[in-house]
Amino acid sequence: KVKAAVFASGTGSNFAAIMESEELDCDIVLLVCDKQEASVLEKAEKYNVPAFVFNPKDFSSKADYENEIIAKLQEAGVTWIFLAGYMRIVGPTLLQTFDRKIVNIHPSLLPAFPGVDAIGQAYKAGAKTTGVTVHFIDAGIDTGPIIAQESLDIHSDDTEETLKQRIQKIEHELYPRVINQLLYR
Ligand code: GAR
Repeated sequence: KVKAAVFASGTGSNFAAIMESEELDCDIVLLVCDKQEASVLEKAEKYNVPAFVFNPKDFSSKADYENEIIAKLQEAGVTWIFLAGYMRIVGPTLLQTFDRKIVNIHPSLLPAFPGVDAIGQAYKAGAKTTGVTVHFIDAGIDTGPIIAQESLDIHSDDTEETLKQRIQKIEHELYPRVINQLLYR
């Protein structure tokens, strides 16, 4: 079975969806988290997934903490990385070691609305359609090759909150399915 790690900084609803997925045929052996207080850490405990929590401020450079992450990943036998709300740019150190093995989910139809708060960006712009993108990571911000997308219409009675709920529902179903297709294509 493929061994993978999830990187997350926040709530971890996508991490939970990956853990709950019955079709996803891989072992999540490590959670990497850059925030001590992120609630994804409680979810890791619940699913018995070991967590590596680091504070970027404790390191003098991105290369330093990414080398530390790589050591943990290699120790755990990880060959794939799934970013799930990891709000940090992946640097060349990790990118070179896990070439084309780092996948991200983003709550917009990229290349529209990259970066933070993509749902709010689409809502405030008055977009009529938005969606979810699963893509490979490259050196840019939400710019890597697209693997899969699913769109949804923004309704006139949507609030930012209802839009977020509808987008996350799509994410939770799309991400495990696309990961599985990637691993066993
Ligand atoms: C998700 O909506 C994910 O697509 C987004 O962060 C959220 C994390 O939610 N990621 C990005 O915006 C990446 N640029 P979660 O912690 O509940 O999974």
